[in-house]
Amino acid sequence: MSVLLVEDDESIAIVITAALEAEGFSVTRCDSVAERDRLLAQGRFAALVTDVILTDGDGIETLGRVRDAAPDMPVIILSAQNTLDTAVRASDTGAFEYFPKPFDIDELARTVRQAVGAAKARGPEGDEAPVAGLPLVGRSAPMQAVYRMITRVLRNDLTVLVLGESGTGKELVAEAIHQLGHRKDGPFVAVNTAAIPAELIESELFGHEKGAFTGAVARHIGKFEQANGGTLFLDEIGDMPMQAQTRLLRALQSGRVRRVGGREEIAVDVRIIAATNRDLEPMIAAGTFREDLYYRLNVVPILLPPLRERTDDIPALARHFLHQAMQEGLPRHQLTDDAAALLGRQPWRGNVRELRNFIYRLALLAREERIDTATLAPLLTQATRGEDEGERPRNLGEAVVAWLEQHRPAPGRVYDEALAAFERPLFIEALRETGGNQLRAAQLLGINRNTLRKRLSDLAIDPVELQRI
Ligand SMILES: Nc1ncnc2c1ncn2[C@@H]1O[C@H](COP(=O)(O)OP(=O)(O)OP(=O)(O)O)[C@@H](O)[C@H]1O
Ligand SMILES: [Mg+2]
Repeated sequence: MSVLLVEDDESIAIVITAALEAEGFSVTRCDSVAERDRLLAQGRFAALVTDVILTDGDGIETLGRVRDAAPDMPVIILSAQNTLDTAVRASDTGAFEYFPKPFDIDELARTVRQAVGAAKARGPEGDEAPVAGLPLVGRSAPMQAVYRMITRVLRNDLTVLVLGESGTGKELVAEAIHQLGHRKDGPFVAVNTAAIPAELIESELFGHEKGAFTGAVARHIGKFEQANGGTLFLDEIGDMPMQAQTRLLRALQSGRVRRVGGREEIAVDVRIIAATNRDLEPMIAAGTFREDLYYRLNVVPILLPPLRERTDDIPALARHFLHQAMQEGLPRHQLTDDAAALLGRQPWRGNVRELRNFIYRLALLAREERIDTATLAPLLTQATRGEDEGERPRNLGEAVVAWLEQHRPAPGRVYDEALAAFERPLFIEALRETGGNQLRAAQLLGINRNTLRKRLSDLAIDPVELQRI
């Protein structure tokens, strides 16, 4: 993998080149903006490391051209101009990292390695199989902001608070921070504070001594101690009871824990990542979440946007899940671009989790390898049915209008898709009525048996499957 180094200071360039080569990169070097643009036009580079003041111009001001030539290439900016202005200009460009001179050469080399890893994690457009171990899919602008935040916390132990609606990928982000960060060789321990009965939380987190309470038949090592040297992921932190919040705060402040029923305090070295889908601020106002704990956790907030705010990611995510489903033994499928676009127009109130579950169901039910809008539309109708209870259409006309608003079929496809959406529930009901007997269903509907069979196949309705429902 090749890194492009734009640096006019010969001695610095030599040192950086050596450090990058030690990380396994090959380095192409130049000292001007013009030369940089020429090299970028000629070949692909895994990353760009650039000085600001160059022989023929400003390395930051001209970065727009770099972005056009190679939108996904991470850019690392070096500068002797240690002003806030340079730092701000550098981060405005979306640069991966900014290094004021003098800087630690090894740290620079490590940063380049991480930047390349993070860029690979995003993967090229339509990539179905992200690099193993780097599980986050999606290259939309909001996700780029998330990736940037992730890269900022990899080389330190700052506490991270991951926020976002249910199903947006908070746990995945926590895992990614651990896997990519400097604690990756240590344990990753996750605790779901909402899933543990209130009276057991302290024992779960801090452990207990034998006999500490009824039922404590043996010493138990808590999650804090288990995570020693690694990362402790405190999930659903907004659901933690008050008393446990107080103990947690104490542990975070002191870096020490005391087992329930124990005497001595034990020093622990853990990186904390917390997550919640709750809005903590009103909870603080209402007195159900400790304000001081909030400030302790909210050192680096990472906000995961809901899927409806990054619809660009939906096709890549859908294909990723189809690929995953196949690896887990479900039939192989391909999604047409139209079908992917149709998925992108759904509300996905359950975010990525809902999309993932839907794709798995699709992988199971779709008969053809190729999934187009005709296969997809009726399944989507089923999937979203029942979500809008309360504002149910009163007649078929209203239902059609509501369906059109929700699905917005692509021009030229409206009739076919509407017909499919209409036929599907009709056929399913008819088959239910007749216990899956196609001959009787056709008679009930008053259509030819072969027509029914053909339409069932077009709509990917499996009468055998229906008998089981
Ligand atoms: N960017 C992504 N790329 C690939 N898979 C993702 C992405 N985001 C989420 N997922 C998948 O979606 C599912 C839900 O994600 P996750 O469990 O991390 O959500 P969450 O935000 O923790 O939700 P909750 O608040 O309900 O706990 C998981 O199967 C996860 O692997
Ligand atoms: Mg979660």
